Amino acid sequence: MDSRIHVAIHSSNSRISLSDISDPGSPLCLSDLSTSKFASNLHIFTLSELKLMTSDFSSTNFLGEGGFGPVHKGFVDDKCRPGLDPQPVAVKILDLDGDQGHREWLTEVVLLGQLRHPHLVKLIGYCCEDEHRLLVYEYMARGNLENHLFRRYTSSLTWETRIKIAVGAAKGLAFLHGEEKPVIYRDFKTSNILLDADYNAKLSDFGLAKDGPEGDNTHVSTRIMGTHGYAAPEYIMTGHLTTMNDVYGFGVVLLELLTGRRAMDKKRPAREQNLVDWAKHYLKDHHKLDNIMDPRLEGQYSTEGARKVAALAYQCLSHSPKSRPTMNHVVKILEPILQLRDLPVGPFVYIAPAQGKNDAKLNDHKEKGDEDEGKVKKETETGRSQRRKGYRHKHPIKARAVYTDTHLYRTLKNEMISARIEGR
Ligand SMILES: Nc1ncnc2c1ncn2[C@@H]1O[C@H](COP(=O)(O)OP(=O)(O)OP(=O)(O)O)[C@@H](O)[C@H]1O
Ligand SMILES: [Mg+2]
Repeated sequence: MDSRIHVAIHSSNSRISLSDISDPGSPLCLSDLSTSKFASNLHIFTLSELKLMTSDFSSTNFLGEGGFGPVHKGFVDDKCRPGLDPQPVAVKILDLDGDQGHREWLTEVVLLGQLRHPHLVKLIGYCCEDEHRLLVYEYMARGNLENHLFRRYTSSLTWETRIKIAVGAAKGLAFLHGEEKPVIYRDFKTSNILLDADYNAKLSDFGLAKDGPEGDNTHVSTRIMGTHGYAAPEYIMTGHLTTMNDVYGFGVVLLELLTGRRAMDKKRPAREQNLVDWAKHYLKDHHKLDNIMDPRLEGQYSTEGARKVAALAYQCLSHSPKSRPTMNHVVKILEPILQLRDLPVGPFVYIAPAQGKNDAKLNDHKEKGDEDEGKVKKETETGRSQRRKGYRHKHPIKARAVYTDTHLYRTLKNEMISARIEGR
């Protein structure tokens, strides 16, 4: 591959334009890239340094692989580069098959070399040696939002955490859109929202980002890029690219946070596969909202907050881009939801008293509970298919000696209160 990278710099004060990266006539070559002003933010690593950091890209350090190539965890310190704080990093190796990979790598370097924000993942440096193209990011301890929301082995995200993530991601987008030359992110989705140890959300993967139109012009893309299920209808139909496309994608992610369902899920019945098509009409009606809320929340969410988020998602998903809110407005609506405290009493642990006049009643429950426990066990044995058919919820949950379930809370609430009163 030609190691010359063409980038145009318009003036020393303005940001390097992303639109010019793809212009093969632009005069800047790779050596200019390393000496340009944003390069002072970035460390340039050699391939052997990166091998050292990642134990030769060992499988034990493997974090995952997306469209660009594999990602490995590594560690840098000031022995590697004077002035670098010792810290874990994520090293992404770009698979350079085809021109697009190279352009996306360059977009990432040029954009993240210039833009810094608490809700954008930090690019620490890059490597560009022969045909090798790698990126070195701050390490995000909790990986991406997709894994937390949809993988079965992870514990469920609480309501507060979901809102915190939504606020963080919204601030990241608002920052990009608020730039003097607005940046359209184009690939807003749960797998591109990374989470640090405290669940602070940061946007990653800027390879598809584009500078927004200036003045009244709108971009028309010849190639529609992005991810199915998140792309705005007008962008798919006409290729018109505006910041409002990102707002639509944000609406889809809000819906995923509410429902715990994927934007596209081929494993579901036909009419439920596209999340927006299935859920949108529920968002308008407060009374129907319960039907689509993520069962993994176990009812532990602010009703008022859920209503506000649903109304906001509905607005973001407007068919007409002009009816969608700006990301600044989205942040203004979402932030106060973090303060709402109208959550139901949390999951509790109920320990049945060993003796007393409630024994008979409780034993009665226990027997029924044991039966039900058997059912739960059978359910696990018979596998996922029954759970998908709603098997679990068709059978009311009865008392057992110890429970930590909100469904149980609803069923047993009254008995709990009377048991407490009688026990006084
Ligand atoms: N900075 C980082 N810190 C920790 N893990 C990361 C970091 N960057 C990426 N990862 C993880 O590496 C894996 C691959 O990420 P990558 O962004 O390449 O692909 P993806 O987002 O899964 O798919 P796509 O190609 O659609 O973006 C994911 O599991 C992601 O969570
Ligand atoms: Mg990604």
